Order: sequence, then structure tokens, then C-alpha cells
Amino acid sequence: MSGLAGRPAGRFISFEGIDGAGKSSHIDAVAARWAGRDVEIVRTREPGGTPLAEALRELVLHRPMDALTEALLIFAARRDHVRQCIAPALERGAVVLCDRYTDASFAYQGAGRGFDLAVLQMLERWVQAKDGQAEGAALLQPDLTLWFDLDPALAAARRAAAREPDRFEQQDERFFARVRAGYAARAAAEPARFVRLDAARPIEQVRAAIEQALSERGW
Ligand code: TYD
Repeated sequence: MSGLAGRPAGRFISFEGIDGAGKSSHIDAVAARWAGRDVEIVRTREPGGTPLAEALRELVLHRPMDALTEALLIFAARRDHVRQCIAPALERGAVVLCDRYTDASFAYQGAGRGFDLAVLQMLERWVQAKDGQAEGAALLQPDLTLWFDLDPALAAARRAAAREPDRFEQQDERFFARVRAGYAARAAAEPARFVRLDAARPIEQVRAAIEQALSERGW
């Protein structure tokens, strides 16, 4: 996969949606789809993906803290993840499959918690600026974001069958309705990057829609 001049050669795909939408099993399927082709696959997640960012993830998911502390820790984790993992992988030409990225911060911290969107935008600019590029240059964003969209009541039912809830999973349905609206706003702002998948459909149909999104891009 050759890149355009000045752009990383790889492909950056993020997976988003409210807790319980079922994105994790689809990440496995997307990774498997590329297996056997001569492409490096980097499967990673946020918060996390490096030793430092995984340590921050533990704190964010389990320790009580205010919304600003939460946002700062998530973006600190993202900064380390971008520098140590994502940017080098894209330079190598890898396909990076990332379980959540900055859209989750706008959806959970912004829409869900009601945290200041202007501060999130500033953090996004600081953390995702490409090294050596002037302020205002393009940020490191996914090439494609697969958004698993699901009604919060259905997602709550799916989560009930899963393990012990973390700080976010303990939130009520109204919180997840706001998070969902936050994702919808990001998708509306960047329709070329986002593909909305109806996660209420049977898993095979969701998988087929993902395959269509990837093959449409010649991937
Ligand atoms: P999640 O990705 O759902 O992992 P798991 O499948 O192991 O539960 O958990 C990460 C949680 O972190 C999720 O509830 C959303 C939250 N989160 C934010 O609030 N903001 C962010 O920017 C990111 C990346 C995640």
C-alpha cells in the first residue's frame, strides 16, 4: 500500500459505539479478513495500546475522578499511543485496527458527561498534531470509522449478560442516549470518514456491511 506524499502509507480504522454494541467481535473478523495478505495488522485499543496508556486505562476505568481529570488522562494515554504505536505503524504501512479513538472522547466526555467541547477540540489538536507540521495542518485521524450504532436499551440488555461493569458501563440509559447522540453528531460532521452500522441486525449482516465498506475503498 503506497501512501500519498506526506501521508502515512498505512490504513487507520477505528471502531466506535456505546458499550454493548458488539464491536469487539467485529474487530477480530476484520483482522482475520486481512490475514494471509502481505499486510501487517496492528490491533490496538483506547484508552490503552502502550504500557503507559494501559496503566492510565486502569485508573480511568476504575478510580473516581472529575471530568477534567478523566479527559486529561484519556488524552495523555492517546498521546503516548499515537507516538509509540499508531504513527510508527502507519509509517510502516500497517493496517491499524483501533478499538475506540477520539470520537469516543467527544461522545463519552463531551456528549455523555457534558464536558466542554472546545477543550476537547484543543486537546485533540495538541495530541494528534503530526510531528514537524505547522499548527493547523491535518491531524492524525482515522481513514475510516466504523460506528456500531445501537439503541441504549438493547445495549444495556447485552451488557447485563457480560462481566462486572466499569465506571462507564455503570451509567444509566440516559447517559448512553447522550453518548449515542454524540457519535451521531461526529458522524454528521464527517460523513466521508464514518460508516454507520445498524448493530441491532444479526451479526452476519453487520459483517457483510463492514465488508462492503472496506471493499468500496479498495481495501
Ligand atoms: P471498551 O472500549 O468498551 O472496552 P471493553 O470492551 O474492554 O469494555 O471500554 C473503554 C471505556 O472507556 C468505554 O466505556 C468508553 C470509555 N472511553 C471514554 O470514555 N473516552 C474515550 O476517549 C475512550 C477511548 C474510551
